[in-house]
Amino acid sequence: MTDAATLSDGTLFDLRYARSRNDLWSMLDRLYGRHPDFDGFRDRLDAALRRASTERPADLKRLDLVRDLEPDWFQRPGMNGYVFYIDRFAGDLKGMIDKLDYLVDLGITYIHLMPCLKPREGDSDGGYSVQDYRAINPAYGDMGDFEAVTAAARARGMSVCVDFVLNHTAKEHDWAQKARAGDLAYLDYYHSFADDTLPRAYEETLIEIFPDNAPGSFTYYDDMQRWVWTTFNEHQWDLNWANPQVFLEMVEVMLFLANRGVDVLRLDAVAFLWKRMGTRCQSEPECHMLLQALRAACRIVAPAVIHLEEAIVGPAEMLSYLGRGEHDGKEGNLAYHNSLMVQFWSALATRDTQLMTHVMTTHFPPLLTNATYATYLRCHDDIGWAVMDEDAAAVGLDGRMHRAFLSDFYEGVYPGSFSRGALFQYNPETGDKRISGSLASLAGLESALQAGDTAGIAHAIERIEMGHALIASFGGIPLVYMGDEIGLLNDYGYVDDPAHAHDSRWLHRPSMDWGTARAAQQAVDTPAGRIRAGLRHILARRAATPEFHARYPTKILRTGNTALFAFERRAPTGSVVCLFNFTDTWQNMPASWVVQHGARYLHDALSDAPVLDAHGAIALPPHGRVWIR
Ligand code: GLC
Repeated sequence: MTDAATLSDGTLFDLRYARSRNDLWSMLDRLYGRHPDFDGFRDRLDAALRRASTERPADLKRLDLVRDLEPDWFQRPGMNGYVFYIDRFAGDLKGMIDKLDYLVDLGITYIHLMPCLKPREGDSDGGYSVQDYRAINPAYGDMGDFEAVTAAARARGMSVCVDFVLNHTAKEHDWAQKARAGDLAYLDYYHSFADDTLPRAYEETLIEIFPDNAPGSFTYYDDMQRWVWTTFNEHQWDLNWANPQVFLEMVEVMLFLANRGVDVLRLDAVAFLWKRMGTRCQSEPECHMLLQALRAACRIVAPAVIHLEEAIVGPAEMLSYLGRGEHDGKEGNLAYHNSLMVQFWSALATRDTQLMTHVMTTHFPPLLTNATYATYLRCHDDIGWAVMDEDAAAVGLDGRMHRAFLSDFYEGVYPGSFSRGALFQYNPETGDKRISGSLASLAGLESALQAGDTAGIAHAIERIEMGHALIASFGGIPLVYMGDEIGLLNDYGYVDDPAHAHDSRWLHRPSMDWGTARAAQQAVDTPAGRIRAGLRHILARRAATPEFHARYPTKILRTGNTALFAFERRAPTGSVVCLFNFTDTWQNMPASWVVQHGARYLHDALSDAPVLDAHGAIALPPHGRVWIR
């Protein structure tokens, strides 16, 4: 293999450059074409691409060829993801290698190592305040350990995802330090202002991200006598992507990471990359131009690597991160399906799927080009109730009141709520209340266990399993958040850590409970054992259901029964109709309805059993789910 690869290295680079040249430069011309040093920038970028290509290790070059031949690799139903903090899961990178077989056993083929690059000391926003993009967090190990992990994962057929935090650096990053010391070239890497005139003008239309503990979007530094743009925390300085030098530096970082054996780069907080006066400074058109250009650069040097874009935005805005209009097929390969997640929780609380069906039908097309979703129920972040007023109104709800209801319900203060959560960043100005809490605690397991309520425990487990069956079939890679496979509850101890106490998201970032995990592998009569066995089964059935390949459309179906959410995955070999009961009561669907939607055998691909009851109807127990072939 090496001979062939060596022989064709230069040629392959040229061919791939030719393939993506227009995707790259049509964007960069528009973004930076008027910059006085555009020609110099062009040469430097070309050289950087060529250099990164030369440095790319031989085994990864082979993977590039494989994935050029099999570009749908990440859309296949065998892809099942797991997301974790290295220290909370395995102590460090060396410890991780021992844990990989646990994940293999669960059916995992994709792992997202939460931020693992060298963060600033002290509070680092869970590692999202990066001080050095070319070093591993010393608490986890070093670059050698990291490459050993990626190789061990690859040997087990697992892909590795890491965070590429590109909207901001830590204020301790070398560039920021130089800027702070007055170096003009580096000052231009960030957005800074001599007085507060412009910051105030921007603030008119900006939305607060962390209103509680990091209010405002700008920070004044006495020593610099300047205001710096800090969208998130004070220690996270927003990069100035209008400066082509920032693009060049960040491309080099991106390819450096790609060359360490990463398969998926999670592009963090991409909605914020471009600033424009008079706007929210989110999802501006230039964000998509930048993201297309980054994608093209990656395809030239490291086509095995794909991009997961993190844009936690409303349903009308999200799709553009998977490449719409002129960017069709050229932007993110994956993006978080934030709306599916929000609608799952909304329908669970209301026991009514009308809003979910409306949102999924109105905003999401059945099919995407070169892309698919990252589907999930919980992640390391809070849940923001991204429900648009128009969508709520379309099903007879008041948007503001519905969002407030969801917060109260999942905080656990709404009468009759099964949930135990906590508020995150209450914004009295907008009435916006986000929610923290683990999957199991939000789904009712914590309150039922406390009350010793056996029926409540069973309901909570069914809710969790229904959710897992939903994200495994909808289309896209289901991402399981660490500990959710054994129903880990909220970790209230986070308040004792001074670096975390101000941030309730640590409530749902517990350490892995290996005792429970091991016990769950042995026994299925405990909640943890049942949840794990259920998930393991769902992931295995998903992998065995070719209709769940992302190349097949997801068509939302109207059942006429507000208790049920339904969609059809339509493959040439036949359809799979997926049905989910969001209520606590039994529901029936006539068999004729399913037949009308193309299911031929009335066989449940999930339980691998026939689905009809004695009366010729499909009977779904509380929170029941079926994938009917
Ligand atoms: C992303 C991360 C979040 C972090 C923010 C700033 O949204 O998921 O955890 O706080 O970016 O980096």
